[in-house]
Amino acid sequence: MRRLIDTHCHVYDEAFREDLPQVIDRAREAGIDRLLLPNINPGTMDDLIRVCDTWPDMCCPMIGLHPEDLAQDFITQLDGLKTILDEDRREGGGHRFIGIGETGLDLYWDKTRLDDQIESFRIQIEWSLMYDLPIVIHSRDSFIQLVGVLSDYRDRGLRGIFHCFSGSVEEAESLMGFDGFMFGIGGVLTFKKSSLKSVLPLIPIERVVLETDCPYLSPVPFRGKRNEPSYMVNTAESVAQAYGVSIDEVARITSDNACRLFRL
Ligand code: NI
Repeated sequence: MRRLIDTHCHVYDEAFREDLPQVIDRAREAGIDRLLLPNINPGTMDDLIRVCDTWPDMCCPMIGLHPEDLAQDFITQLDGLKTILDEDRREGGGHRFIGIGETGLDLYWDKTRLDDQIESFRIQIEWSLMYDLPIVIHSRDSFIQLVGVLSDYRDRGLRGIFHCFSGSVEEAESLMGFDGFMFGIGGVLTFKKSSLKSVLPLIPIERVVLETDCPYLSPVPFRGKRNEPSYMVNTAESVAQAYGVSIDEVARITSDNACRLFRL
């Protein structure tokens, strides 16, 4: 039976408050048997954990601080998250966090916080290394800065995902140089004008994982609507077309990739 893993979804978002059980049922029916949940900020942590406690066989928690969610006193935000992470990693710890994120850099709306974003990103990279957990990286309008930061950790065994990858051939080639990283492919691939259709086949499929980033970035034909994990089948079909393989092959390989990276 086909199984898929949504490596990046925010099903704890208030967009799902009314009907999350049905959303989870539809995901299962579509063959999606794992949902990996990156965190946004300290305020979203409780909702994220509650969802993972309700569907423990399906939903896996991550912990981190999104670059667009940095408070002025972001160090206090990070200290609070680190305390939760430390408790979790002690023997018998409770939440079983499988990754760090989402973190990274975002200069799309606000360029004035770049230094703070870099500091927050570096702190979370150190957590990833210290606890040997993959890191989920969000990067928008910040490619040069991203490569600049990551280059400092090249030989330290850092591993993770370039979430929502939609870059150029040159960007793909540059990021492929970071050996421990997978490329997270989402609904953008299905958009009619997406240049990712021609870039993707240059990336070995062994380095691709699937994601929705729901409730955002719905694939065609749901574009503009609330996204949900079951829609990831449409993205998987586009990935199959890009590589010229069957959707079952895409499901098997990308799920293996996710299991290897997150040690599921
Ligand atoms: Ni996200």
